[in-house]
Order: sequence, then structure tokens, then C-alpha cells
Amino acid sequence: LKKIILFADPGIDDSIAIIYALMHPEIEVLAIVSSYGNVTKQKAVDNAAFLLMEAGFPSLPMIGGTNSPLSGETPEYYPEIHGADGLGPLSPPPYKGHLNNFSDLYDILHAHSDITIVDIGRNTALAHLFLLGSDIAPHIKDIFLMGGAFFVPGNVTPSAEANFYGDPVAANIVLSRFTPIYIIPLNVTSKAVITPHHIQEIEAASSHPLIPIIKDLMKYYTEAYQTLIPGIEGAPLHDVLTLYLMINPEAGRYVRRAVTVFMEGEGKGTSIADFRPGSRSRPGDPAICLEFDVQAFVEDFILTISSSTG
Ligand code: BDR
Ligand code: CA
Repeated sequence: LKKIILFADPGIDDSIAIIYALMHPEIEVLAIVSSYGNVTKQKAVDNAAFLLMEAGFPSLPMIGGTNSPLSGETPEYYPEIHGADGLGPLSPPPYKGHLNNFSDLYDILHAHSDITIVDIGRNTALAHLFLLGSDIAPHIKDIFLMGGAFFVPGNVTPSAEANFYGDPVAANIVLSRFTPIYIIPLNVTSKAVITPHHIQEIEAASSHPLIPIIKDLMKYYTEAYQTLIPGIEGAPLHDVLTLYLMINPEAGRYVRRAVTVFMEGEGKGTSIADFRPGSRSRPGDPAICLEFDVQAFVEDFILTISSSTG
């Protein structure tokens, strides 16, 4: 069983990732840290709380993360992809229940020695953890980040991907403070496309109450992507792929390279690594995913969602 702390900004693909992590037989979620990103921190918390309740995990530790990037800039949100409140057509009520303190993360980390951190949002809260707690590294086994874009256009500027663009200072802090880090970038996650046909397969196999929620989320998200990219058959589940590759390391091909994220100007959020022939990796460089087994991912997604919730 892999013990993880999930940093997220739900968000549609984050929400499906939360459900996937809760339902996966090989993943134990120790806590969810909900922050600004796709939506405000408040909405990200409301959405995570709603999903935990619906999934039957009402008392799983939930931590309110960060409100805005370390630079002090105002966050940009993307309602055209994730809906006005982050869950497509759904608007969960404001969460009034218990929220753990940010400092509880230290207690959770200190109670273990082999935690995997998965960050599928802006890296602000995770950077805070490193800035405030210098003694946490021994408790972390590895870190998986959904972020960056290599060789391809970005999704929020011509060259930048949303998570690294949202807080490039935080991304650089995390990248410089810990090893091993696995980066699952946009050029890879864009191929993790789930189609309406796959959702029908899940629907036919399971009658769990979460399935209608997943269906509503995916319908909205797929239509948003189809407006953006005419002809695409479904929508990419960037954040779910990151969890899948965390649990199935053999399904991805990685190259180790130092990564720099531009922090300001026109190139803000752009990630670069030296892939020239003859360039080398140095010990401690992050592993950048370049390819994965798409078919195996799709099969695992269908199986995990339909059998665990069946
Ligand atoms: C990333 O940004 C967000 O919109 C998604 O949830 C994903 O984490 C993709 O660039
Ligand atoms: Ca996300």
C-alpha cells in the first residue's frame, strides 16, 4: 500500500484523481491539501469536502492550503475548463465542517518515514511545507508533480503549463529542495484521454452513487476540451495519470534532467531541460516522464473506478 499526501486544486481532473486515489486498492490517502489553482482555495476546499463525503471518507484529514502564489500576484482561474465553481455543472455548498491546520501536515509526516507526496496543483502549499519545515525530507519517499510542458505548446501561454505557470517560484523551490522528484508534464498527460465511451463502460459496470457525479463532471470537461481542441474524442485526465504513474512506475519512460521554470516575463511558467544530444543528467536531477502506456492507463482507470465503486 502506497501512503500518499495529495496536494490538489479541484478542479475536474483533480476531483476524478481524488476519487481514483480513494478507490485504488494500492493507495492509502493520509491527507488532502486543497488550495487555490483551478478555483479559489475556498471552492477547492468545498469541492474536496463534498467528494470525501460522497466517497464515504468524511473524516479523512483535509487541510486548507494556500490562497495565492508566492509572488503575491493575483491567481488566474479557468472556469471555461472546470466550471464556475470547479466541478462543472455542480456547486457543492460551502463546507462548514472540520478543517485540519496546515501544521498537522508535520504531525502526519513525522508519524511515517515513507510518504509519497503527489502534487497535482500549483506548488505553493508544498513549497510552504519545505520553507517552514526543514526536517521533513527524511519522512518523504518521493514526490510526483503534474506540471510543466516540454517540446509542445503550453496550455495557458504559448509555452507554459497551468501548474508551473500558476506559481513558478514555488515550483523552483520544490525542485531544488528534494530528490527524487518525478515530473509528469503536459506533453505526456495530454495523451491520457478518457472518452464518453469509456465512461459508458464504467456506468455499465457499476451502480455506485459516485458514478453519476463522475458522468456529470466528465460531460462538462469533455465538452470544454472539444471546444478548445475540435475533433478530440474525450478529455485528458492530467492529474489521474500522475497518480497512475506513481502506482505503476513501469508504465512510464523517464529521463533525468535538471529543470528550470522561468519565473517572470513573457516566458513565465515555461519549463526547460537540456535534451540536446550529448547532454547528461546529474545525481538528484528530477525524472521527467516522456512516454507512457496509454492503453494500460485507460484499462486501469476503467477497472479502478468501476470495480472499486461497484
Ligand atoms: C493542470 O492544470 C489544471 O488545470 C489541471 O487540474 C492540471 O493539474 C494541467 O495543466
Ligand atoms: Ca490540478
